[in-house]
Amino acid sequence: MTASHTTKPLKPLSILFAASEASPFAKEGGLGDVVGALPKYLSRMGHDVRVVIPRYHSVDCRKYALRLLPGTLVVPMGIIGYMYCGVYEGRLPGSDVPIYLLEHEQFFGRPGLYQQDGQGYMDNDNRFVFLSKAALELCKMLDFHPDVVHAHDWHTGIIPALLNTSYLHDRFVGDAASLLTLHNMQHQGNYYPGLMEVLDIGWKHFNYLELEIDDQVNLLKGGIYHATLLNTVSEGYAREIQTAAFGCGLEGAVRDRSADLSGILNGVDYDEWDPAADRFIAAKYSAKTVKKGKAACKRDLQGVMGLPQRDDLPLFGIVSRMVKQKGIDVLAEAIHRILEMDLQFVIVGNGEPWAHFYFGDIAAMYPEKFACFIGYNESLAHKVEAGADFFVMPSAFEPCGLNQMYSLAYGTPPIVRATGGLDDSVENFNEAVMSGDGFKFWKHSATALFDTIGWAAWTFFNNPKGMVALRKNGMKKRFTWEVAAAKYEELYRLAVLRRRGGEYYRNRFGG
Ligand code: ADP
Ligand code: GLC
Repeated sequence: MTASHTTKPLKPLSILFAASEASPFAKEGGLGDVVGALPKYLSRMGHDVRVVIPRYHSVDCRKYALRLLPGTLVVPMGIIGYMYCGVYEGRLPGSDVPIYLLEHEQFFGRPGLYQQDGQGYMDNDNRFVFLSKAALELCKMLDFHPDVVHAHDWHTGIIPALLNTSYLHDRFVGDAASLLTLHNMQHQGNYYPGLMEVLDIGWKHFNYLELEIDDQVNLLKGGIYHATLLNTVSEGYAREIQTAAFGCGLEGAVRDRSADLSGILNGVDYDEWDPAADRFIAAKYSAKTVKKGKAACKRDLQGVMGLPQRDDLPLFGIVSRMVKQKGIDVLAEAIHRILEMDLQFVIVGNGEPWAHFYFGDIAAMYPEKFACFIGYNESLAHKVEAGADFFVMPSAFEPCGLNQMYSLAYGTPPIVRATGGLDDSVENFNEAVMSGDGFKFWKHSATALFDTIGWAAWTFFNNPKGMVALRKNGMKKRFTWEVAAAKYEELYRLAVLRRRGGEYYRNRFGG
């Protein structure tokens, strides 16, 4: 006799995303893209996903039809006392996913998300501890029992520690598992020890394994120690951060949790980034019409950036935060040498003030060859992806990187330093067999960047078949959120099992 097995479908999960950014409401980088996209795909899989972020001054309530919920959230801020905030409710565009935006004039009613004029806000510690605690308090207000709280980077990185301490017996979140996604190890939330009094989880957690480092409170370290599970946004970066070169001082803490750490490459929101449907570009195109389409987009980009409209020169593009992580210093060192070649270069970005002046001067020195736009501009970002012949990313480190994936979709071969997600998502061009979709270099140096740009320029002039192959191979690649979301679901389920153990099994299998 054979036993018949019936598998009960797994219960959908309740998941709370707590983060400092979510596109399109508030975004400074890829973190916003991820938090704005991943919940939609999880929700399509049947999960009950909710997102909480601050309501920054820049969030336009009317534009997103945000509704102020009745009631006030009470947030215990330790030695500061109780603080209060209002809650706006909206939906992630194109979905039913509820997003909650915390209204607190003192903390979030200012022009920047994290900083102003290159200076981080002095009270970022309290601002983001407030966000972390308020996210958990919100569950009470919503009568929401999350199976998993998904925290992101240092801003909400302390949530796993809160769940294991002051919220351990909370009726709503006490048994919630936590997943901490490490998007960037460079920013850790390092503050004076007195922050322990605001966290109010007990000084015993201020020790070298948990929250303390160099006599400071490190919010990210607390999260790394306490999270049920951890992940980074590429497999490569998950390996890298266990080394001193990439761990930014927390490599030991990460290595201690290496068994619980995985890497999931971000997806691309192809609704936003598709050359066949892009509302920002001069001509829409597909893989079949890429040559003609890109030629029109290139002329448009040259026109917008004030460069001569030359089809015969290779055009290199960058869209990036102008910070050292992105290799902007290496580019600054190489740029004169690069511009000795027959080519054009455009940059769209903002960040460190020195870079604004430096590249502004370069534009004045080489008006026929180099142009830059200092600032954040979505439409220009799309125009560069479509109009450039090559997209340049000389990052010192890159946890995932989204722009190289966008540029692959736009038939714009990326030129990348082989690190983290750049290494994982780009395949080096092999002229002999016409495989690959971009150009890679390994050394983080001006010479390596210069050489690789030279290789790409040479390909443009002398290897038209190679150009066709590069574009075609890149456009075939897909980094879908469906694939990434399925991997996240697995992690959530594993985290719930870890947190609730037998009880979960009993509910699931009716034991
Ligand atoms: P990071 O999060 O480290 O900045 P990512 O590559 O993950 O890097 O994501 C960057 C995101 O921000 C992309 O969507 C990119 O197009 C966008 N972006 C960065 N700088 C600008 C800018 N100056 N104007 C428009 N978009 C920008
Ligand atoms: C960080 C990383 C970037 C990544 C993004 C989204 O900002 O710098 O590489 O793509 O987070 O995960």
